[in-house]
Amino acid sequence: MTEAIRENFMSVQQKLYEGKAKILYTTDDPEILLTHFKDDATAFNAQKRGQITGKGEINCVIATQLFQLLEAQGIPTHFLERPALNQMLVKKVKILPVEVVVRNIAAGSLCQQTGLPVGKILPTPLVEFYFKNDELGDPLLTRDRLLILELATPEQLNQLKEQALTINQILIATFNQCGITLVDFKLEFGVSSNQELLLADEISPDSCRLWNQSETDPNRRVMDKDRFRRDLGNVEAAYQQVLERIMSIRW
Ligand code: TMP
Ligand code: ASP
Repeated sequence: MTEAIRENFMSVQQKLYEGKAKILYTTDDPEILLTHFKDDATAFNAQKRGQITGKGEINCVIATQLFQLLEAQGIPTHFLERPALNQMLVKKVKILPVEVVVRNIAAGSLCQQTGLPVGKILPTPLVEFYFKNDELGDPLLTRDRLLILELATPEQLNQLKEQALTINQILIATFNQCGITLVDFKLEFGVSSNQELLLADEISPDSCRLWNQSETDPNRRVMDKDRFRRDLGNVEAAYQQVLERIMSIRW
């Protein structure tokens, strides 16, 4: 199976779609796509652009580790295998145009929009849905707006929330094991050809807020894309540190 996939994707690479951080290629198998992780970084709906050297490889390896860990705990994902440091073979899915954000601690847009102080521990994890639509600036959705726009069915919506909360519990424990606090993160899901809801896209320092538990300084503790968004410096070193810690976990 592994060799067959390798040969297949080696022989065909047609660009299907290029996003801000990844490129998607078709393979000989219509059910399998190849994702290439780029070093490109964007923020604020691509108003800020840059490069984070080595990010493609680091994020792909971190995402692989986390997808495998989640799969082992019963979460179905699109991950198949990682043929190169910055390449992932994934099951083809139809991505739901909804970004699912889970928050454990107040930060980012939650603080900007509600006045909650940065760092406030939330009484229960908060699950939010955003419309994945660059032209509209990915607005926050209500449940009713999401259903009226038919971005997901009511059953899918319940499943998204349930999956997101389970994933949160697993990721909190995983990051805790390596001295990192999971502040918040964004997930994307897709529907496979056999109608299964699969966790897709990536989980990486691009899509999570991660705070180093051995730092108290609010800027020094940041180990994620906020270093890039807020020009905090040492972006590559922070991503590398997350990689090293995640890879040190035994499970
Ligand atoms: P926010 O506080 O800016 O809404 O971000 C919440 C979480 O979602 C944070 O971990 C960063 C992540 N995120 C993305 O992965 N992509 C995005 O486009 C945005 C805005 C946030
Ligand atoms: N990824 C998003 C963008 O570039 C925003 C972000 O992560 O802050 O537009």
